[in-house]
Amino acid sequence: MALAAAARPFVAKTSPRAAARRTTIVCASDPMQVVVTGAGGRTGALVMKKLLVRPSDFRARGVVRSDKSAAQLRGWGASDEQIVMGDLLENGQEVLSKAMEGADALVIATSAVPKIKPLSLIPVLLAKLTGKQGVRPEFTFKADQYPEQIDWLGQKAQIDAAKAAGVKKVVIISSMGGTQKDNFLNTIGNGNILVRSGHCSGEGSAPPQQQQGCLVGPLRGPSSLPACRSAPPDLRAIIALPLCASAVAYAKGHGPACPAASFRRRGSPFPTLQVWKRKAEKYLVDSGLTHTIVHPGGLIDKEGGKRQLIIDVDDKLIAEGSKHRSIPRADVAELCVQCLLLPEAENRSVDLVSKEPGDAPPTTDFAALLREMPRNCSYADMDATVAA
Ligand SMILES: NC(=O)c1ccc[n+]([C@@H]2O[C@H](COP(=O)([O-])OP(=O)(O)OC[C@H]3O[C@@H](n4cnc5c(N)ncnc54)[C@H](OP(=O)(O)O)[C@@H]3O)[C@@H](O)[C@H]2O)c1
Repeated sequence: MALAAAARPFVAKTSPRAAARRTTIVCASDPMQVVVTGAGGRTGALVMKKLLVRPSDFRARGVVRSDKSAAQLRGWGASDEQIVMGDLLENGQEVLSKAMEGADALVIATSAVPKIKPLSLIPVLLAKLTGKQGVRPEFTFKADQYPEQIDWLGQKAQIDAAKAAGVKKVVIISSMGGTQKDNFLNTIGNGNILVRSGHCSGEGSAPPQQQQGCLVGPLRGPSSLPACRSAPPDLRAIIALPLCASAVAYAKGHGPACPAASFRRRGSPFPTLQVWKRKAEKYLVDSGLTHTIVHPGGLIDKEGGKRQLIIDVDDKLIAEGSKHRSIPRADVAELCVQCLLLPEAENRSVDLVSKEPGDAPPTTDFAALLREMPRNCSYADMDATVAA
């Protein structure tokens, strides 16, 4: 179906209370077939729920990887045909081609999920007791579920599958902070160290990925050195050094094309969540598919529809001194649903936060919100890091 041409305004009532405060939204004349990946996730599930309550506008299909998530979708009225089970890393191609069949649009809500390291909470607690500032918990990711795999390769596979299936629009729920190399999100996870082509395959890790002359392979620290087969002397030397300093030295020595050059935070070499997400975003922008990329601020599980939304670009909303830095997942989900139909959302990439409830009238006109801020986030910094 033609996305923009099909859009027309209508007034939705979601509950007796909601009827009192009518919300102007947009619907389609024929149901739009929408695939939601990460439909068991906290925001992805809300997108699915919102699509499922509008059967005349949308025919939703959710990709989930657990029985629990599938049961949740069934509880919201999804039929078996509307649920595709599978892990994007295990049987991704099969799952995606099944999910995308006949689809008009795709909402990508998958994400690598950082897990807190329990022992790292001890220094955090001690710091709290002693009043020491700046001590944060440490995070990691499940084996082979690193940002590189989920946020870059997993999202790239989804974009490729969408394109192959003739999907017309792709919405990505990503994250703010991508332009700030020092952003906390860009430092977590003890992720992958970047190593040179052909030399390393960390034990128990995913196969390294070729990337502009460098190979990216997860190493879990200096103890991974024995797993690094036939590493050249220079590489052995840098791994034997404290990791942070060594990788920066390595990146410097291998020029700007080496992705390691981009990842520095107090010398941290770790390619991170936002960079991998951003790489997928840039891939989508370059794909020629109609797209909307939403970068929420800190996600909170509060009721949606109560706050005024604010959009901007390039992390200005989380710059030093900014007042509003968070947004309910329900409001992010609503914007994504609106973006499926609004012409104003086509080929846009925006940051998103919300004011506090009561501070300003809640946003109801999403087209106006997007029209008022016509700029898009820049990906100029990604030109050197996105693989050909
Ligand atoms: N947390 C924040 O404050 C914050 C702030 C800004 C932006 N964001 C971003 O906003 C987005 C939504 O966040 P969220 O907290 O709602 O996400 P979430 O609950 O962590 O959901 C992530 C989803 O991805 C799925 N997934 C991960 N690996 C997969 C795989 N291999 N195959 C299939 N599915 C896979 C997960 O499946 P399972 O359900 O089976 O685990 C889950 O449904 C994310 O990109 C996040 O990084 C978060």
